[in-house]
Amino acid sequence: MDIDEAIRTRRSIRKFKDKQVTKGQILDILDAGNRAPSAKNIVQWRFHIFQGEAKKRLVKVCREAIEKIPKIPLMASTRNSYNIMEQAPVVILVLQTCEWGGISPEIQSVSAAIQNMLLKAHSMGLGTVWINDVLFVEPAIMEILNSEKLGTENKTALLESTKKLGIEIGFSGPLIAAIALGYPDEDPKREPRFNIDELTTWYEKIE
Ligand SMILES: Cc1cc2nc3c(=O)[nH]c(=O)nc-3n(C[C@H](O)[C@H](O)[C@H](O)COP(=O)(O)O)c2cc1C
Repeated sequence: MDIDEAIRTRRSIRKFKDKQVTKGQILDILDAGNRAPSAKNIVQWRFHIFQGEAKKRLVKVCREAIEKIPKIPLMASTRNSYNIMEQAPVVILVLQTCEWGGISPEIQSVSAAIQNMLLKAHSMGLGTVWINDVLFVEPAIMEILNSEKLGTENKTALLESTKKLGIEIGFSGPLIAAIALGYPDEDPKREPRFNIDELTTWYEKIE
């Protein structure tokens, strides 16, 4: 699938087949994320992969935590989003590294990585949906990440590469989003988008 087709035909997938995604497929998708542009080339994204029992615990914690906080209209979609995470064979939590203070390019870098992953997954015949509804329960999710991380990755090279820029990058900072990943069990219609003219201001005419 070429890039134009991938961009044109990707849709958010919220129904997944009961079919596992392989570690090789997940690694290919993470590799696409890792090739995104990043501010100062600091690679501000960190990936946490949940499947099987770990994913069940993650979804349970999300559901319990959302019940404990005051509801606002924006939370209306949380139940559905957590159901999607339950049904998808894989959930990738995407975190950013620490803030630089004042300016915030991290979220831009991490979002670029997420979009690369969505397009890569789509080009492999897999489906994804970008889920922000995890942010309402971020503290509960961070507890899971701190308690359940498997092994300790060697972060020395990463830390050294950022120290020379005068900043200390920890392993994982704030949560940015979850990506539910699996084989699509739906084929949503491609909706027309707003006309480019409605979204764009030109400052000089180009013929
Ligand atoms: C930053 C961001 C956050 C999103 N959060 C959620 C979410 O929490 N739950 C969900 O079902 N979809 C979520 N989506 C998916 C959007 O609803 C979806 O991209 C939009 O409706 C356009 O549809 P399409 O992706 O099929 O083109 C999110 C998308 C983005 C970019």
